[in-house]
Amino acid sequence: MIDAVLIDELKTLVEPGKVLTDADSLNTYGKDWTRQFAPAPAAIVFPKSIEEVQAVVRWANQHKVALVPSGGRTGLSAAAVAAHGEVVVAFDYMNRILAFDEVDRSVTCQPGVVTEQLQNFAEEKRLYYPVDFASAGSSQIGGNIGTNAGGIKVIRYGMTRNWVAGLKVITGAGELLELNKGLIKNATGYDLRQLFIGAEGTLGFVVEATMRLERQPKNLTAMVLGLPDFDALMPTLHAFQNRLDLTAFEFFSDRCLDKILARGDIPAPFESHCPFYALLEFEALSEEVANAALELFEHCVEQGWVLDGVISQSEQQLKNLWRLREDISETIAPFTPYKNDISVTVSRVPAFLKELDAIVAANYPDFEVLWYGHIGDGNLHLNILKPDNLSRDEFFARCATVNKWVFETVERYNGSISAEHGVGMTKRDYLGYSRSAAEIACMKAIKAVFDPNGIMNPGKIFV
Ligand code: MLT
Ligand code: ZN
Repeated sequence: MIDAVLIDELKTLVEPGKVLTDADSLNTYGKDWTRQFAPAPAAIVFPKSIEEVQAVVRWANQHKVALVPSGGRTGLSAAAVAAHGEVVVAFDYMNRILAFDEVDRSVTCQPGVVTEQLQNFAEEKRLYYPVDFASAGSSQIGGNIGTNAGGIKVIRYGMTRNWVAGLKVITGAGELLELNKGLIKNATGYDLRQLFIGAEGTLGFVVEATMRLERQPKNLTAMVLGLPDFDALMPTLHAFQNRLDLTAFEFFSDRCLDKILARGDIPAPFESHCPFYALLEFEALSEEVANAALELFEHCVEQGWVLDGVISQSEQQLKNLWRLREDISETIAPFTPYKNDISVTVSRVPAFLKELDAIVAANYPDFEVLWYGHIGDGNLHLNILKPDNLSRDEFFARCATVNKWVFETVERYNGSISAEHGVGMTKRDYLGYSRSAAEIACMKAIKAVFDPNGIMNPGKIFV
């Protein structure tokens, strides 16, 4: 446990007032969007520079104090939860964009820059930062890098990893490393930058990042299609992907749409009620492309894969269609959902989903199961809403068996127990379903190199 003397010492490392220990701050900064673990940090420290982060990490090494990084705290795996008297390092005051290069199409920013801030900055420069998800208005770049955030445009642009051109990190040993320096080509041995992406702060803290930007997409157009059954999804994806360069291919079930429409603030896409919906997006770069999309729609209708559909005719309609998908997570949050985020290769999605859905339905017929996700890249979100007749504890106890079925099925399908939300504490005990014992041993050995005293976000990814 950290005592008052140590906290006073910590206070000397940063600007006055930048260490907080009041109950409200400990509660706010000690947790992310998961609610399974009670926050219990010892203090929150807000460094304002790389030097201050380095001083804090050196202090933590000296006194064997565990540190937990905190960004926008929108994570869903408890990677940013401090439940055991750790010191939280919050990057709220390291939130500046430092440099932009038009020729390199790169922007260098501090870790506390909010994702949307980077997206808007890119837009001002007539460029595009393509990693996007519903929590972009709160999540921070450092956290996105720590979790290798994915989201809704991965089918076209890949995950955060693809956009990191350079990183400055403070390792768990307190050393400053400058990795890859914004280069596109660099064949000088191990790419250590990649190790810090998706490491959830277990190797060190990202203190500066150079992100690549892309040309702006033009005339983005969305279609929402109503499908008769799950089997129609993949032929539809395949048909559209063969002719159009899709920027997204998402799906959600009728139960998700019902919850969204019950809010009353988003219009239904069309009148018919369908069991499944696909939302696809593409750049209507020419009339030819727009016509191809309509031809494809007709083709899918003729094949019986699609029952109804709508295509956006304006920027506002594009936004409204996206809300049908993007608002699902927030809309179902009050129902205390059990959440899972898994992936398999795209071709195996139908068999995988049907098998899992059948197991849950057979064992828990009363559970309201909601499926949605980024199906174009094999990423499914399985959500189950808590029935009114079960207490929170009873519900999550039953969901522990769901977890087992999910992970056993994932393992058989060679899938991932965490597609994009990370491992954190929620999936730590199940890592072995996706990674071999030899792989986990390598990961632990890598951690020991960068974090010899085990002070960086301990208990996350593995124990
Ligand atoms: C999403 O795709 O909406 C996000 O990953 C959040 C969630 O799964 O709830
Ligand atoms: Zn997602």
